[in-house]
Amino acid sequence: METEMLYALRDPLGVPSHPLMFLVLGVLTWAMHIVAVHVLLGSSALAIYGSLSSQSHWRRLAAAMVNTAKVAISVAIVFGVAPLLFVQVIYDPFWYTSNVLSAWWVIGFIIILIIGAVALFAFYVMNKSMAEVEKTRCPGSMILAIALFLVVGFIMHALAVQMLHPEKWMEWYAPGGIIDPSGRSIHEFNLWRFGFFIALSAPMIGLWLYAYRRYLMARENENAEYLDFLKRLAASLGSIGGVISLVFFIAWMLTLPENIASFATSIWPVLTILALAAAVAFPMLIARKLDTGLWGYAPFAVGIIAGLVVAIMREAVRWQTLFGVHGYNPLDYKVHMDWYSTLLFIITLVVMGGAVLSYLVTVAWKAGQTKGMYTPSPAVNRLGNFAIATVAIWILQYFGFGLWVAYM
Ligand code: HEM
Repeated sequence: METEMLYALRDPLGVPSHPLMFLVLGVLTWAMHIVAVHVLLGSSALAIYGSLSSQSHWRRLAAAMVNTAKVAISVAIVFGVAPLLFVQVIYDPFWYTSNVLSAWWVIGFIIILIIGAVALFAFYVMNKSMAEVEKTRCPGSMILAIALFLVVGFIMHALAVQMLHPEKWMEWYAPGGIIDPSGRSIHEFNLWRFGFFIALSAPMIGLWLYAYRRYLMARENENAEYLDFLKRLAASLGSIGGVISLVFFIAWMLTLPENIASFATSIWPVLTILALAAAVAFPMLIARKLDTGLWGYAPFAVGIIAGLVVAIMREAVRWQTLFGVHGYNPLDYKVHMDWYSTLLFIITLVVMGGAVLSYLVTVAWKAGQTKGMYTPSPAVNRLGNFAIATVAIWILQYFGFGLWVAYM
């Protein structure tokens, strides 16, 4: 397809800040999205497996993992919206075409996600005392939730892959010359690529388990056998899951479209494999330190860095396809600088996001480490008040600025 045609599909208004900002934020937030997705899928899988077991450690783990999944789904959604915004700003000709070609699935996406989330919460509500009792109520709801999350992820996968094939769009839109405007079909996918992103859930939840274990270790009289069980499980998930992910990754690289087949022998796959191997090996490398200080959290932090490398490599695939093959450069998008929205975005993210998140994490953390009732210190209360004030100011400026633009 002609490069000019792709450029013609751009928003003539341009973008409100330098496109590099959208590109970098897109990669960063997608990395957070996929790590949260890994924790969601990994914890959900451990929850269902553990809930079907009668072994006490497994049941305790299952109860903890349902709680983790409950939070992870919110984080995955929040960090899913962010790259969604960025991708449609700088890659709008591709993203929108891909969405319109499978519109039925794009709309279905949200319904499927809602049913999946409700199924997860239903399982949680029905099994609040899973650690204490041997009976698990309605495990089918958790299995349904996992299946629907996978469908949701698959839809995103198809959209992300279809956007890379502008040369096929006409054939998909009008197969054999007859227009099909229904948007009912998924036109392109690569199960190896999808499988790779999903399989990473196993090593990532392994790294998460080290952090969970470290968190429990801060409690007095924690059950040493349970801590050992967690360590062994984390190590197996890391190594077995790591190998499975590697197989999927290599298969994805071998099945890349012909016009970007050379990507498989570039530096990116090497960096990706090194980063993932380092993350999986890290807990063994710091073996003795793992139980000292805050080192127990380090494996998950290294996992996040590996997730970022995966996200950069994924963006490099897109770059090589859209720029290398089709001549589309997202960085030459026309800029109509809008300082208000740019500064508002940065301040919202850093000040409001930072304050609210720090407060919530501090309270959740301290409450989990305290026996009995937790009473926040004056400093934590001040942080909470500051966080609420930033949200109030944000809402005021939102309506204030909107009314000013509309009526002044
Ligand atoms: C909870 C279930 C979800 C799962 C399992 C999931 C999984 C995935 C996977 C595997 C990919 C990579 C696809 C690929 O490149 O081949 C992806 C991409 C993406 N996801 Fe999710 N996702 C979920 C929910 C969401 C939600 C709720 C949103 C936002 C509303 C979202 C937004 C995105 C976006 C925008 C991309 C592509 C970004 C880009 O191409 O730059 N996801 N997701």
